[in-house]
Amino acid sequence: MSATSHGAVAGEAGRRRTFAVISHPDAGKSTLTEALALHAEVIDEAGAVHGKAGRRGVTSDWMEMERKRGISITSAVLKFAYRDSVINLLDTPGHGDFSEDTYRVLAAVDAAVMLLDAAKGLEPQTLKLFDVCRSRRIPVLTFVNKWDRPGREALELLDEVEQTIGLRPMPVTWPVGVAGELRGLVECATGEFTRFRRTAGGATRAEAEIVPAERAAVEEAPHWANAQDELALLDEIGAKYDEAAFLAGVATPVLFGAALPNVGVARLLDALVELAPSPAERTDVDGRPRAVDAPFSGLVFKVQAGMDPSHRDRMAFMRVCSGRFERGMVLTHAGTGKPFATKYAQSVFGQQRTTIEEAFPGDIVGLVNAGALRPGDTLYAEDPVEYPPIPSFAPEHFAVVRCAEAGKHKQFRRGISQLDSEGVIQVLRSDLRGDQAPVLAAVGPLQFEVATHRLESEFRAPVTLEPLGYSVTRRTDAAGAEVLDRQSEVEVLTRNADGALLAVFGSKWRLETIRRRYPEIVLEALPAGS
Ligand code: G4P
Repeated sequence: MSATSHGAVAGEAGRRRTFAVISHPDAGKSTLTEALALHAEVIDEAGAVHGKAGRRGVTSDWMEMERKRGISITSAVLKFAYRDSVINLLDTPGHGDFSEDTYRVLAAVDAAVMLLDAAKGLEPQTLKLFDVCRSRRIPVLTFVNKWDRPGREALELLDEVEQTIGLRPMPVTWPVGVAGELRGLVECATGEFTRFRRTAGGATRAEAEIVPAERAAVEEAPHWANAQDELALLDEIGAKYDEAAFLAGVATPVLFGAALPNVGVARLLDALVELAPSPAERTDVDGRPRAVDAPFSGLVFKVQAGMDPSHRDRMAFMRVCSGRFERGMVLTHAGTGKPFATKYAQSVFGQQRTTIEEAFPGDIVGLVNAGALRPGDTLYAEDPVEYPPIPSFAPEHFAVVRCAEAGKHKQFRRGISQLDSEGVIQVLRSDLRGDQAPVLAAVGPLQFEVATHRLESEFRAPVTLEPLGYSVTRRTDAAGAEVLDRQSEVEVLTRNADGALLAVFGSKWRLETIRRRYPEIVLEALPAGS
């Protein structure tokens, strides 16, 4: 690679902001995504942004099941230009149905926006996703949404963030008017006030106007004075923006707004451009950093099958980690050393697919017919590199799966092993249960539906599922397994993918009782993404 192209790659990487929104269902992620795109110049004509069924937008309905439920199961990528930057927004599937994919997406981002509902604050799914961000050291910006509706006090919400997850809040904007009476936002660093007014005629978009402080003090009394008091208090406790603390993942810039009337959304984009990190060097399995302008390398973070019902294809989503990707390049698969041709490289948004000619660090490339690729795989050009695998997560849902039709056992076995190797679901076994009745384990129940659907439609192996009442998983060892095998309401299973011995319990209580009785046995919590 020539010296100029090194510079060009570094420059392109520097313009990229690749992030995901982490939130609890109903906090407003779809609404925020739509609002973000309104400010954006959509690069690849990806069409409208995805929404829930019936809503304006593209629902990514490549699976029958998705259509029926009106949800987006698989992640899409929204790529757009904003100011001088290129933004890649990776969608994390949500809607209460959790899956490993949700976590894996976080292996491909450089930052996350934690979206909170002003009335609800931190909610369980947000906490789970935040844990993954923390363990992966992903810097997190916080957006407090729905400020146009009655909610909690701003200071109380900040306090909750600090107390619950130990992340120091650093407000970037501050609301004038309590939740439900939003008048506008003050820029904490400069004191500049932007007032928002609902437009006449029932339109939902709010109009923004910069109002000088003297006028605001009169026109927005008493809200203005309250906001100033709160800002003074924040000043006293030292909540000023601290870049090092943000990048180290110990503090979070906080912005307030309302996605639905589009308040504070452009400010969030500005914050992403100004504060969020661009792609940086990535450490390989041997602990060596690979610079963004090194020869090409990419990490597969997700594999999706059956996206196009007319072709049985499989698409791998790859994040570019270093170098320039050019369609047609022949890459090397780090795991096997085999070549991988990239003639069919695409960007994917919902049902829309566009051929990608080139991509830079931070971008996501969809590789079609990627039967040989698995989540966590590395592809590279020229200089070999392999990135650490994406960890599997502690399953919380378990079910025994059995082939429901005589004569289909071969298809059943093939299907189970395929889904296991793709990382759609974790497959656990024990001598006691035997090969005919493996246990499927998932972080979210939706994974069972995806697995059942694929076993039936793709492998022609109808199955029955028998849910097991376990919800807590710990890793143990052979000595631990011996003790645990003699206990009730606990079972030790071997994970196919890596041979790990997983002890599964009906409840935390059961785990604690056993732990107290046998303090010597190994019962390790599984990583949340480290
Ligand atoms: P999700 O993707 O995180 O699940 O949330 P989604 O955007 O679907 O938003 C959940 C609900 O919250 C939606 O209402 C949406 O209109 C509303 N919402 C999102 N942002 C704001 C906001 O800033 N202010 C207000 N007032 N509401 C907001 P819904 O009635 O459940 O759905 P819909 O019928 O409006 O689509």
